[in-house]
Amino acid sequence: MSFTIAIDGPAASGKGTISRAVARAFGFEHLDTGLLYRAVGRRLLDGVEPLEAAQTLTVDALDESVLRTPEVAEAASKVAAIPEVRAALLDFQRAFAQRAGGAVLDGRDIGTVICPEAHVKLFVIASAKVRAERRHKELRAAGHDVSLEEVLEDVRARDARDMGRADAPLRPAEDAETLDTTAMDIAEAVARAVALVEARL
Ligand code: C5P
Repeated sequence: MSFTIAIDGPAASGKGTISRAVARAFGFEHLDTGLLYRAVGRRLLDGVEPLEAAQTLTVDALDESVLRTPEVAEAASKVAAIPEVRAALLDFQRAFAQRAGGAVLDGRDIGTVICPEAHVKLFVIASAKVRAERRHKELRAAGHDVSLEEVLEDVRARDARDMGRADAPLRPAEDAETLDTTAMDIAEAVARAVALVEARL
C-alpha cells in the first residue's frame, strides 16, 4: 500500500528541509515539485515555449545547482500560473505519489490538487521577514550577491503571484495541519513534522 505525505507552503518556509527529513525518517521517496516548475522556468529563460518545455521535461533536467537561482524562481512562478503547464506536470506527480514504499511531495498545491487524498497534509508557514532572512543566507552562501531587501521583495512578489493565481493557488487544504516555523529552528520543525506523521501512520 502506498502512503502519501503532502507538504505545502510559501517560498523558504522550511518545507523543503522538513520534507527531506520526513522522507529520510520514514524511508519514503521525496519529490520537490518546485523543481519541475523551475526546470520549465529555466527553459523559458532559454527561449523555449513553456508548454513545450513542460511536455518534454525529463528527470535529468531537475539539476538543483542550476535551478536554485532568483531568476529561475521568478520564471518558475510565472510558468506555474499557466493552467496547461500545470496540467502537463500532473500525471508525473500523481504517479510519484503512488510509489509503493511511500512518498513525500512538497510544493504549493499537493494537498489541494495533486494529492487531495494524501494520508498526511502539512501546511508550513513563517513570516515573510524570517523567510527572506533564511533565503538570503542560503543565496549568499551559494555565492549570490543579493541584498536582504531584494530577497524580501522577491519573496513578497512570489507569494502574491502564487496565492493570487486562478489555477491551483497556494492555500492550505481544509484538512491540513498548519506548522508555523517562524520561531523554530530546523531540528524543532522537523521533530514536530515527524510527530504529526507518526500520529497518523
Ligand atoms: O518551491 P519552489 O520555490 O522551488 O517553487 C518555485 C515556484 O514554482 C513557486 O514560486 C511556484 O510558483 C511554483 N510551484 C507551484 N506548484 C508547486 C511547486 C512550485 O506552482 N507544487
